[in-house]
Amino acid sequence: MDRIPKHIAIVMDGNGRWAKRQNRPRFWGHKRGVERVRSTVEGCLDLGVEALTLFAFSTENWKRPEEEVSFLMGLFVSSLNKEVKRLHKNGIRLRIIGETGRFPQQLQEAIIEAEMLTQHNSKLFLNIAANYGGRWDITKATQQLCRHVAEGKLDPEKVTSELLHQQILLSDLPEPDLFIRTGGEQRISNFLLWQMAYCELFFTDLYWPEFDREALKVAIDSFAERQRRFGRTGDQLKAESK
Ligand code: IPE
Ligand code: IPE
Ligand code: MG
Repeated sequence: MDRIPKHIAIVMDGNGRWAKRQNRPRFWGHKRGVERVRSTVEGCLDLGVEALTLFAFSTENWKRPEEEVSFLMGLFVSSLNKEVKRLHKNGIRLRIIGETGRFPQQLQEAIIEAEMLTQHNSKLFLNIAANYGGRWDITKATQQLCRHVAEGKLDPEKVTSELLHQQILLSDLPEPDLFIRTGGEQRISNFLLWQMAYCELFFTDLYWPEFDREALKVAIDSFAERQRRFGRTGDQLKAESK
């Protein structure tokens, strides 16, 4: 079972290019991308993955044309409303990570409702990163520790990486051990910077709307073949497993 990653993090990229390749508008690709969210979630559920974190909208994505941003917001609301019952039925706990305060009211309400409904589930922890940025996450955690220092509750000398870790989002889950990015780009784009310190990276040229369960399996198989050394030597690991 240790061959199955505990926590998969995915940058779902390539919706626009996938649509363009078929002479369709970008929004078509985003719509089809939602279907892949469903198949990926169910694939993870079947394989016994504990947590899945999907990058849906970055803090940088506000720079896109206004029509695309508002289409994405609308799609987010309709997908949440459409999928939440099914998620709940499957025992999935949904959390949205990111600065949701900037979203339209209707979306904020749909988020709260979905999180409340699924809060006691534990079969799969599904996190959707929306208006999320890794640097924002670390900055927010730092602010929290600074507040403790200012209030006299924390000695600056006692600030450790473990203490900072506790303030970072998703610290209650196993750290992501497999990162997947579709769409051919090989970059992190300000995703889970802190959490991915020791994550295995997997890149595929498939566009997100093409990422089916078979593709998920290919990524997991690649993960299963890797030797994770965490700083040690391969010989040390071999000796320990004897
Ligand atoms: C990812 O697909 C979805 C979001 C960022 C919302 P893109 O929209 O980035 O698709 P490409 O990269 O332009 O093809
Ligand atoms: C990253 O995708 C964020 C999401 C998938 C939501 P982008 O397509 O926006 O990333 P860059 O800007 O090309 O790196
Ligand atoms: Mg992109």
